[in-house]
Amino acid sequence: MGRLDDKIALVTGASRGLGEGIARRFADEGAAVVCADVLDASEVASSLPASPSGAQPMAIHLDVTDTAQVEEQMRAVADTYGRLDILANNAGVAQPIGAVIDTPDEVYEKVFTVNVRGVLACSRAAAHIMKQHNWGRIINTASQTGKVAWQGWGIYSASKFAVVGLTQVLAKELAEHNITVNAICPGTMFTNMTKTGFGAAAASADRDRDELLAEHIETIPLKRLGTATDIGAMAAFLASDDACYTTGASLNLTGGEQVFF
Ligand SMILES: NC(=O)c1ccc[n+]([C@@H]2O[C@H](COP(=O)([O-])OP(=O)(O)OC[C@H]3O[C@@H](n4cnc5c(N)ncnc54)[C@H](O)[C@@H]3O)[C@@H](O)[C@H]2O)c1
Repeated sequence: MGRLDDKIALVTGASRGLGEGIARRFADEGAAVVCADVLDASEVASSLPASPSGAQPMAIHLDVTDTAQVEEQMRAVADTYGRLDILANNAGVAQPIGAVIDTPDEVYEKVFTVNVRGVLACSRAAAHIMKQHNWGRIINTASQTGKVAWQGWGIYSASKFAVVGLTQVLAKELAEHNITVNAICPGTMFTNMTKTGFGAAAASADRDRDELLAEHIETIPLKRLGTATDIGAMAAFLASDDACYTTGASLNLTGGEQVFF
């Protein structure tokens, strides 16, 4: 028996990286998973098992910045499966490295529209469905940069502070409907985003990316990067009944890189 048997879960940004890890673990724990992304997530969805009662996983095209599409797709999921129990707001984008005072409006717009308004749009649409069944789990992928300032990543960092804030407010507002809302704050994870980010940092310092990454790993107390499996495990815990008294939390997943509250 899995902890998420026959739950219906939707994961944004599920075609790769951390979202794929969350989708895989939810499915392994018994959920029927809807893999949502602007990229094609059908390869991930088709490799997932059905739920124990036979509900099939599926892939949908979902741009979290398109509020009308978010509303429409959430309704379609609820129509297909009869409900929506778990939402993992994982889709996110990084920014080109640069000082806040040199940031053009377009970078701010892009980062905040995906990382913050996307979480708002998906949570709003999903919570209205979850309320009808008096049960729900919303799990947001924030970041360690959502708790402590990161120079060069200021706008991204500010967007993740906003995700932590939204998590806390939504947790208070949705508790009466038995919907918990929590965030995960990953550190440096082994994904495309990290490889691209370290590539840009290396280029601007005229350094080798892998060398820079290796030096960074030495600063992480557990001496490795985080993985999609690591975040899948934490997300599954937050989605399960084991976490039924946990809401409004932003849990660190950093290997000790950051150890703040
Ligand atoms: N990689 C890290 O070290 C790290 C650390 C902390 C937090 N995070 C956060 O984890 C989440 C996943 O990041 P990742 O490292 O797997 O990155 P990634 O770039 O590999 O994956 C991000 C996914 O989000 C999707 N996406 C982007 N914009 C979208 C949109 N408008 N609508 C729907 N989907 C969209 C992408 O297509 C992609 O599949 C992000 O929110 C990121 O900010 C990552």
